[in-house]
Amino acid sequence: MRGAKIVGWGAALPDKTITNADLEARLDTSDAWITERTGIKERRIGGTTAGLATEAGRRALERAGLEPSDIDLIILATTTPDKAIPHSAATVQDQLRVSGGALDLNAACSGFVYALVTAHGLIGLGYERILVIGADTLSRVTDWDDRNTAVLFADGAGAVVLQATNGPGQLLGFDLGSDGSARHLLYADIGGFMQMDGREVFRRAVRVTVESALASMTRADVTADDIALLIPHQANIRIIDAVCQRLGIPLDRTVNVLERTGNTSAASIPLALVDAADSGRLKKGDLVMLAGFGAGMSWASAVLRW
Ligand code: COA
Repeated sequence: MRGAKIVGWGAALPDKTITNADLEARLDTSDAWITERTGIKERRIGGTTAGLATEAGRRALERAGLEPSDIDLIILATTTPDKAIPHSAATVQDQLRVSGGALDLNAACSGFVYALVTAHGLIGLGYERILVIGADTLSRVTDWDDRNTAVLFADGAGAVVLQATNGPGQLLGFDLGSDGSARHLLYADIGGFMQMDGREVFRRAVRVTVESALASMTRADVTADDIALLIPHQANIRIIDAVCQRLGIPLDRTVNVLERTGNTSAASIPLALVDAADSGRLKKGDLVMLAGFGAGMSWASAVLRW
């Protein structure tokens, strides 16, 4: 069997910081409300999806000690491409001077895990190395006068290099799902701003993330006790808390960067993964669960052996 493992990682965040105090100054909201109801204290905005993706991708290549010419394919998970045509991965491919193919993949906030699983499949078919990036610039589709969404969303990118291995590789189990009948709960028309039924998204997010995580663990033949670290989608600390309670995973076995990043959609899980890897929280042999949900509604989870 031909598997794959992550051999490099990198993140990129825009320079501009928007604090809760900044939002408090222009909206009918407060630092206390945002902190208590979401766990977010500040977020970064600015740049382009391809620009952030390129920066994160370059760092992942450096960390892996690889050249752009070593990469067979870029998969860029994004729900906020810079242009309608072409795909943003084309810009990333040009800026990084990668010689292989490039495609965008849109599964909203679940996009990175969808892309990572897709990359594993392509490595199974013979590719050697795939650069998997999650990048979004939600600030461009956020109405900064709408307190329902402005307090939550932001910009960023995270990337990993996935490389072929002889043998089973890191991925032990995964689950990808979609309930398109709920797509009205969170959407943006072309050229428009995000519209969201926050309460209903919250309710469903907890349910589908738990169900998906359980499905991945069943396929990996492991239990929640075996999971050393849960890397959840960074949307709301109360969602993460509710998921942890239902799965029986203590909050201190999760990675949380949303306090300083907000919800960066497809970038959220790789940003948290990079944070965990850089801070030494990912130990060789540990079981790591990635679990997310997003517009669509979509969900995706995966169990990896680091
Ligand atoms: N600032 C201050 N008050 C706010 C507010 C804001 N930004 N937004 C809502 N409120 C008020 C409401 O008007 C309501 O007031 P009331 O009790 O007087 O009627 C109260 O706060 C509670 O509103 P509610 O909508 O029930 O809040 P909530 O606890 O559900 O939190 C969200 C709102 C959006 C933070 C939460 O529902 C959420 O995170 N949902 C999931 C969103 C998400 O993850 N989207 C991305 C998916 S990838």
